[in-house]
Amino acid sequence: MALRLMDTLKVEGRRVLLRLDLNVPLKDGKVGDETRIREAAPTVRALAERGAVVIACSHLGRAKGKPDPALSLAPVAPILARLAGRPVRFVPDTVGEVAKQAVAAAKPGDVLLLENLRFEAGEEKNDPAFCAQLAALADVYVNDAFGTAHRAHASTAGVAKLFKERAAGPLMAREIAALSKVRDNPDRPFVAVVGGAKISGKLETLTSLAKRADTVVLVGGMANTFLLAQGVAVGKSLVEAELVPMAKDILAAATGRGASVVLPTDVVVATGTDAPGRTVSVSGVGPDEMILDIGPETRQRIAGILATARTVFWNGPAGVFEKPAFAAGTLAIAQAMAASPAFTVVGGGESVAAVQQAGVAGKLSHVSTGGGASLEFLAGDMLPGVAILEEGA
Ligand code: 3PG
Repeated sequence: MALRLMDTLKVEGRRVLLRLDLNVPLKDGKVGDETRIREAAPTVRALAERGAVVIACSHLGRAKGKPDPALSLAPVAPILARLAGRPVRFVPDTVGEVAKQAVAAAKPGDVLLLENLRFEAGEEKNDPAFCAQLAALADVYVNDAFGTAHRAHASTAGVAKLFKERAAGPLMAREIAALSKVRDNPDRPFVAVVGGAKISGKLETLTSLAKRADTVVLVGGMANTFLLAQGVAVGKSLVEAELVPMAKDILAAATGRGASVVLPTDVVVATGTDAPGRTVSVSGVGPDEMILDIGPETRQRIAGILATARTVFWNGPAGVFEKPAFAAGTLAIAQAMAASPAFTVVGGGESVAAVQQAGVAGKLSHVSTGGGASLEFLAGDMLPGVAILEEGA
């Protein structure tokens, strides 16, 4: 698969519709994590320096087709300006008169940021009329929103088809290169570490990894369902009992081809997330207790596995990471990723937050800006936002 790349487009003096993933956490109108803006900023700067009129656009949150002031992209504009080193004009409109006038008034090198695309009902519906309105704003299209590439929405799918000249931005290209290596051509041993609360939503990815990885390490709430599938009593832990048969299939698929599956052998349990924790063997979980983190023996075992791996992909925390009492397992995985000589890739909001909190993001080979997108890519799915950017598409 060869992507058309942004560098091959002529952008000087032309209007570029630039789809970014600026879906960042907002709290009380303030941006909680700048990672996605920081990753998008060099693309904005590069296009502006090449003399394009940059019309940046994104979604933020799930606005459900109606304006919601709490989900405005306005607070993102000054941060994008600081990180890109260029003035960014926020436009409180997407495809209406205000947006059209802002575009008409813009000069080469100017950067506009449109309002949240999901304020428009046509965005998530991939509505042809909305696609046409968006396309009318620009001459060429660049999609650098890997985090949203699994959504067939107007700004990621429908609009792309309306541009003869369209290409992937540099972040999109880097993401696809790193994740393709993990999925299609990993140096072995290839170790997948998968955590997070639930199996549902990750079933396809787990099934794919069970067929590709040499070792699958299962942690976090989702490991409870696998423990249950092996007859371990997990007390009041979060489980998806209805998915036990699926968990058994995934275990059988991995072990059937000689891969190992690693489950926690010791865990930190408590009667609630605000109660004091204690470390027990997995066979010692009390009927009123819930598993909230992996224990020190399991952490050490995972560190040993990662130390000899040559490719590692990690998604999902090992416990209730937002509570310091149950964060040690997740931070230990972040440290073990950083210490590993392997090609290391982390994807997903919480695991990315963990590598940042542990101060090791710079030591990993690739920190993906995609959560759902990276999982769907690894599951083998063709992402709609990527397919349309391929040569010949
Ligand atoms: C993400 O954060 O995974 C992407 O920005 C997509 O957001 P969505 O899940 O609301 O479509």
